[in-house]
Amino acid sequence: MTPDRPLVLGIETSCDETGVGIVRGEELLIDAVASSVDEHARFGGVVPEVASRAHVEAMIPTLERACTSAGVRLADLDAIAVTSGPGLAGTLMVGVAAAKALSLALGIPLYGVNHLAAHIAVDILEHGPLPEPVLALLVSGGHSSLLLVPDVTSDVRPLGATIDDAAGEAFDKVARVLGLPFPGGPHIDRAAGDGEITIDFPRGLTSGRDLERHRFDFSFSGLKTAVARWVETERASGRTVPVADVAASFQEAVVDVLTRKAVAAAREHGVTDLQIGGGVAANSRLRALAQERCAANGIRLRVPRPGLCTDNGAMVAALGTQLVARGAAPSALDVPADSSMPVTLVQS
Ligand code: KG4
Ligand code: ZN
Repeated sequence: MTPDRPLVLGIETSCDETGVGIVRGEELLIDAVASSVDEHARFGGVVPEVASRAHVEAMIPTLERACTSAGVRLADLDAIAVTSGPGLAGTLMVGVAAAKALSLALGIPLYGVNHLAAHIAVDILEHGPLPEPVLALLVSGGHSSLLLVPDVTSDVRPLGATIDDAAGEAFDKVARVLGLPFPGGPHIDRAAGDGEITIDFPRGLTSGRDLERHRFDFSFSGLKTAVARWVETERASGRTVPVADVAASFQEAVVDVLTRKAVAAAREHGVTDLQIGGGVAANSRLRALAQERCAANGIRLRVPRPGLCTDNGAMVAALGTQLVARGAAPSALDVPADSSMPVTLVQS
């Protein structure tokens, strides 16, 4: 029999965060995260082998911390959910192996779930059941996608995605050009707060044939290059680079395109609710401009708090409880870690 409010443990290891979350029904009990981000800082990006080893070391302590803080015994759990993809192959494997071991040892079902669908489901913990359909804008270091979501447990339809760099990746690369630390998003956000939008940087795929061909796709690679060129020219002519103004102008170009395309997609598909998720959803200007443009277009906006936007285990547990509650069949015990799992596949 399906429990009314299933108690599900979620494990996330698709990138550099070891996340273990526990959810009962739609209630978040604990979200324990151990990050290896500091170990990658000097490389200016996540090093997969370093991240994989960090997951191995952090898994059991994080699991113990989650159970102790939530007052949950492993024997109380109804199911285990784990990110089976997409993500880094080696890091995914650590989480999937841990989840299989728990499922087998405890004799409870295992759900291998899609990382992107989990980024959408997490908002249930903060704002209650998802509207069906909801339009999801997922923006992080690894993905930038616009998704039409009639049902997060079974029906996720891609409308568009980045054709080159992810939005967070652009933040990280531009931060590096400006001499700001990794990961760059929060530093650019902070610097931009002291700056003015003085430079008109390009908005990729927003006009002419590009827009026709890529209505809901994104491109941030040209913008990143434009910023690097602008900064180089300033330095070459001996001028001091106005870091805060460059940060504000770059940030505006990114969030203008993201919100413009999200609102256009919602209108075109007759969807009245937009959800933003992923690490870049923590960006203060993105939140403000999305709020402004949604209000002007009669769209309700949902953005989880920043801690639930970045990668975590609670999002995986949140999707797991939805799958259990809707009677979805568990995954097989040989479920693979699938680094290129398609977004349309909610569960493997
Ligand atoms: O979702 P996440 O934690 O991990 C991935 O799946 O990538 O996202 C991390 C990304 C990084 O690129 C980081 O620079 C960006 O999110 N980020 C931000 C902000 N906070 C984090 N970007 C812009 N503004 C922020 N406040
Ligand atoms: Zn993510």
